Amino acid sequence: MRVAIIGQGYVGLPLAVAAAEAGHTVVGIDVDTKRVALLNHGTSPVSDISDSSLTAVIASGNYQASNSFAAVSTADVVCICVPTPLDAAGAPDLSALEAALEGVGANLGSSALVILESTISPGTTRGLASSILSAVSRHSDFELVYSPERIDPANKKWNVKNTPKLVAGLTEEGTARAVHFYSSFVETVTSASSVEVIETAKLLENSFRFVNISFINELAVFCSKMGIDVREVIDAAATKPYGFMPFYPSAGVGGHCIPVDPAYLVAKAREVGAPTRFIDLANEVNLSMPSFFAGKAEGMLGSLSGKKILVVGVAYKPDVSDVRETPASGLIKVLRSAGAVVSWHDHLVLEWNGESSVPLASDYDLVVLVNPHSSVDLSVLDGVPVLNTRGGI
Ligand SMILES: NC(=O)c1ccc[n+]([C@@H]2O[C@H](COP(=O)([O-])OP(=O)(O)OC[C@H]3O[C@@H](n4cnc5c(N)ncnc54)[C@H](O)[C@@H]3O)[C@@H](O)[C@H]2O)c1
Repeated sequence: MRVAIIGQGYVGLPLAVAAAEAGHTVVGIDVDTKRVALLNHGTSPVSDISDSSLTAVIASGNYQASNSFAAVSTADVVCICVPTPLDAAGAPDLSALEAALEGVGANLGSSALVILESTISPGTTRGLASSILSAVSRHSDFELVYSPERIDPANKKWNVKNTPKLVAGLTEEGTARAVHFYSSFVETVTSASSVEVIETAKLLENSFRFVNISFINELAVFCSKMGIDVREVIDAAATKPYGFMPFYPSAGVGGHCIPVDPAYLVAKAREVGAPTRFIDLANEVNLSMPSFFAGKAEGMLGSLSGKKILVVGVAYKPDVSDVRETPASGLIKVLRSAGAVVSWHDHLVLEWNGESSVPLASDYDLVVLVNPHSSVDLSVLDGVPVLNTRGGI
């Protein structure tokens, strides 16, 4: 099939490469001209896609990147994978999605299958997306489908091919066409009865993580006060073979999904007058974690004023270079406002907020582990007290 994939980031690029490897002719469309040039040069900006796999699909003739939406006009399938972040007020920001839909609609050919993969609030496919495409496109015979992306960057086990895919279209024909397309490179494709079911399922998946992470963070505070190792507690509970799933403590949630997606559920819930008390409370608990750890640092050092503190791992999770919504940000802010002299080390991030990663060294009063990467060698810290936000007393 001829496939156009709008947005070549953490979601769109792995999807484009998987589709190209399956033999489809793929054009990856992105508004970022620098990114398009890099991609066509065989340089991957996404850690889950190696330069060699990108170069291989370019060489096969099955992949190219472009700034132009022109390839949409001949595409059998158009997938939309653009960002759906929050605005400054914490509300869903659909501006990139609206722009992408307008670009797609203006170029859509006859009988195209349009699939939204971006995370959205329930009702957005049938409402906003359908109405923009209908208003802008010359053709009314398109099929519109929602299929949420579940990619987990840096996950070595689960990838585009073996992570089950959910699909639902506005019509049965759309659903069937999407199942056929994804089945050419995804092992398990499951359809649902309506787009609203899987729009909500996607938000349930990440809100479930959000709420459970915050519950474990609250338990970590309790364990700390009791002098009990929370990791040992979780590992002990996880020996139960049913009815329990381990989550681990942290300085808070980060990344493009877990802190963001619940806000999409909340926005819709407010609209329809449904309560979201668990999500609201989870947010409150997570936002309190930097202050909790600053308090722990004070417990270890006394006043933080003038104390040299090294924060290790500022990405939103170990083994990625993505700093979006990282909990390190809030923690560093709280430590600095208490007078500490804070530096940070992250060999995957290197530059962040106009600051640079510093080398690991032993001349600090305290090291705070936020999201240390698996390859980091902490033995250099030799004798420096360590505060581990990921567990331990
Ligand atoms: N990153 C993840 O782990 C993950 C997982 C599941 C779902 N999602 C969801 O997938 C969607 C995409 O996220 P991402 O992490 O890939 O974002 P990203 O920022 O990594 O990539 C998005 C790309 O889209 C491009 N873009 C922005 N507006 C555009 C437009 N109008 N037309 C064409 N290109 C445009 C950007 O330049 C960027 O390269 C979001 O809705 C996100 O919530 C992300």
